[in-house]
Amino acid sequence: SMLEAAHENDIELEGKVYNSIFYSLILCFYVMSGACEGSLACSTCHVIVMDMEYYNKLEDPADEENDMLDLAFGLTETSRLGCQVI
Ligand code: FES
Repeated sequence: SMLEAAHENDIELEGKVYNSIFYSLILCFYVMSGACEGSLACSTCHVIVMDMEYYNKLEDPADEENDMLDLAFGLTETSRLGCQVI
């Protein structure tokens, strides 16, 4: 997942808008810490995908992801949970 990729590459992302070659497909997004480590029990891995073309290529979020996204701060039309985006 996007969250795992960030952690595996020691990328400090919390609270920052991040932009790099590593995420060039996404271009720019906001990602948090991933407190529940991907078990869909928090919304701290909230990301905002800034590239609509990339966003539209993603699988639709499952109901469980949508339920958690509803709790995310600053929810947008292109919000996803980073732990669920592959
Ligand atoms: Fe908790 Fe993604 S890390 S829902």
